Amino acid sequence: MANYPTKLFGIVGYPLGHSMSPGLHNWGFREVGFPGVYLAWSEPPEKLKDFFRAVRLLPILGGNITIPHKVEAMKLVDKVSERAAAIGAINTFYWKGEELWGENTDVIGFLAPLKGRSFKKALLLGAGGVSRAVIAGLKDLGVPEIIIANRTLEKAQALADHFHIKAIPWDERMKPEADLIINATSQGMKGEQVDKSPYEEKWLEGRKGLVYDIVYNPLETLLLRESKAAGWETVTGLTMFVEQARAAFALWTGGVEMPQAPATAKVKELLGL
Ligand code: ATR
Repeated sequence: MANYPTKLFGIVGYPLGHSMSPGLHNWGFREVGFPGVYLAWSEPPEKLKDFFRAVRLLPILGGNITIPHKVEAMKLVDKVSERAAAIGAINTFYWKGEELWGENTDVIGFLAPLKGRSFKKALLLGAGGVSRAVIAGLKDLGVPEIIIANRTLEKAQALADHFHIKAIPWDERMKPEADLIINATSQGMKGEQVDKSPYEEKWLEGRKGLVYDIVYNPLETLLLRESKAAGWETVTGLTMFVEQARAAFALWTGGVEMPQAPATAKVKELLGL
């Protein structure tokens, strides 16, 4: 084996902004001794077709797909997993023999910290890009009642219709007695919304359950701080980020795992935590 990287990987998106994926995967390849290199490819929508032609021409063994290409890219691979088809979006591509496959490892990442758990009623806050993967994950987990609330009700209703779940107005999100609450809004994220929470602490009182924030920067959002104070269990978005990356990595390397604890430490380092 050559002692320099011979296999290309990368993330395609537009605009790419600040992605942690190159830092994490390049570290992972070195860590397990895999001859890969992971690049960042900023390609606008009109170049996406050409990009996938390049994937079929160059020694590109896999990659991640991010905003705004997750839906469109589904049409440019040969096959997608059942899970990805149900979600209607892919965030990962890889080769299975001569076929280029699309997968959605966001669901795998979302489910990782919930493995073996069961919940009666889930409340999902937000109806953006990541919410589809969350709903598919909750269905996979077998949660019998899933309710979605979003500031713009129409977006929640569209997802509710697609997945056969219930949508409620944003102002009524305190009503369902959920034992699992997931934040998939941008409230609490580093920047303008860092001091915001999508759910009030007083609504958590007198009940028990788990609050899962998809946000990972900051690691402990206002929502998670208040949930802890109210005696609820909490899960940060860091696990989901690390696990979606580990699932993709294993697809690319033919099952070689990116070690979990050091990967989590690496992401924290990349976040400056
Ligand atoms: P992503 O693709 O990462 O999910 P997004 O599509 O921009 O990001 O979704 C952001 C989510 O945060 C949306 O559900 C958005 O609500 P709208 O659909 O009404 O825009 C939600 N969101 C953003 N700012 C919010 C705020 N101030 N209050 C409540 N929800 C907010």
